[in-house]
Amino acid sequence: MHDKLEHLNNLRRLVEAGGGRKRIDKQHEAGKKTARERIEALLDPGSFKEVDVFAASDDDFTNMENPGEGVVAGHGIIDGRKVYVYAQDFTVTGGSLGRVHAAKICKVLDLAMKVGAPVIGLNDSGGARIQEGVDALNGYGEIFFRNTMASGVIPQISVILGPCAGGAVYSPALTDFIFMVSGVSQMFITGPQVIKAVTGEKVDMETLGGAATHSKVSGVAHFINSSEDDCMLTIRALLSYLPSNNLDEAPVYAPVEPVTDKETMLEIIPDDPNKSYDIRDIICGVVDNSQFLEVHPYFAQNGVVGFARLEGRPVGVVANQPAALAGSLDINVSDKIARFVRFCDAFNLPVVTFMDVPGFLPGVDQEYGGVIRHGAKIIYAYAEATVPKITIIVRKAYGGAYIAMCCSALRADAVYAWPSAEIAVMGPEGAVNIINNKEIAQAENPVETRRKLVADYRTRFANPYIACARGYVTDVIDPRDTRATIIDALNNFSTKRESRPRKKHGNIPC
Ligand code: HXC
Repeated sequence: MHDKLEHLNNLRRLVEAGGGRKRIDKQHEAGKKTARERIEALLDPGSFKEVDVFAASDDDFTNMENPGEGVVAGHGIIDGRKVYVYAQDFTVTGGSLGRVHAAKICKVLDLAMKVGAPVIGLNDSGGARIQEGVDALNGYGEIFFRNTMASGVIPQISVILGPCAGGAVYSPALTDFIFMVSGVSQMFITGPQVIKAVTGEKVDMETLGGAATHSKVSGVAHFINSSEDDCMLTIRALLSYLPSNNLDEAPVYAPVEPVTDKETMLEIIPDDPNKSYDIRDIICGVVDNSQFLEVHPYFAQNGVVGFARLEGRPVGVVANQPAALAGSLDINVSDKIARFVRFCDAFNLPVVTFMDVPGFLPGVDQEYGGVIRHGAKIIYAYAEATVPKITIIVRKAYGGAYIAMCCSALRADAVYAWPSAEIAVMGPEGAVNIINNKEIAQAENPVETRRKLVADYRTRFANPYIACARGYVTDVIDPRDTRATIIDALNNFSTKRESRPRKKHGNIPC
């Protein structure tokens, strides 16, 4: 037995050495951790249990041609809760994916589904292992199928920690959240060389698919961090808001009052309705410890989405951001909001919406880009969501955007308005231009007539009281009572049970 144990330990050491000292040094020189170091940094200390340690494509695996087949897989603990994890090992054939590599990832996905635990994939891969041909492609297909089946059942998190090309980017794209690290991560379907050959465009890897590109321009990445260690901390923070699966409760923490003084809630919105402000000041004035984990913070900044807690319980927060594009809804923000609302609904997280929206963004680019079908996604996502939905109209709520941002007709459970709310078909200036154009043109003093008509419209229509009279708004509240009002509403609707017609699945516009 002692000899056999020694043989076992030798084999284990060989697997753990991955692609060997030289390649590990190269990885470190590039500012990157190895697969095993990454797993250690992510999980609670000493909690990792590896599966399929000796998996190999060669029957005589003692050859150790590709130790571990280029991926380390298993499960561990984060803040006392079970998670499944796999980390591609770039030191072994560039983390490229062959048949057995894919099978190890598939097993982790299957086990995570079986026990209802989140999966975190640490990706660092040159894509399909060229030598394995169609077996590699089939391996990707098997992973994509499982990612799709797991969607809405267990949270799936993808972390890009190297150059990920070809098939290596589609599995992350099917998961819930993508993390990237500046200077370390790149994602692209086809790399700079292929692009140059096909289109003649010259672009470097970082500009094409680096963390800045995907977190600001394409919106592919949800979180960007400046180091691998920070990235692991953000993943742990994200998980603290999420249930382990769609049937489980999210963790509850001790309630903490916001840091913001209640009185400042009266000062955030400027007197001039055309002036902007940062909606995050309102969010942080309401949520526990003024702590807000923003998702997609650099993409489509005219909307804000993220996680927070109210009395210790996690909620999804959605808001318009007047500080960017006046908070209007455009193509990108529609995608951002719709996907976030659907995530919250899938995992039973209530959605709290702060509305200050002048409308959909006008423009030829927007129309040509399909703002109609993109904007429709927000309506669809809110309408299909059956979690508690609380909406606070803090200022503008105009036209179709008022409907889209979870009005009562989309089955918001409660809609509250601040006294500053303006709820109407369109803003005073635009409305007067249309309904009073002849009167203004014929007036002795058109400027003064226009000013009076705008003021009259504002008094008559741009307020919360008509919507209250019709029952579309539950109440007009003192901004200082916003936190207490939302908490009360969430407690009230915590036992909400609502269903939708039985069907195979809907067909969200896209
Ligand atoms: C086999 C690969 C590999 C691959 C890298 N390697 N990619 N082996 N199949 N796809 C190996 C290299 O031969 C090398 O082996 C080691 O990994 C490290 O690679 P380097 O090129 O030395 O590293 P680096 O300079 O950092 O460049 C990394 C890289 C580059 C940018 C990822 O290797 C690259 O462009 N690889 C190919 C990317 C690609 O086109 N993949 C196929 C995509 S198609 P040694 O032994 O020297 O250490 C695809 C289809 C699926 O994925 C589609 C499904 C929808």
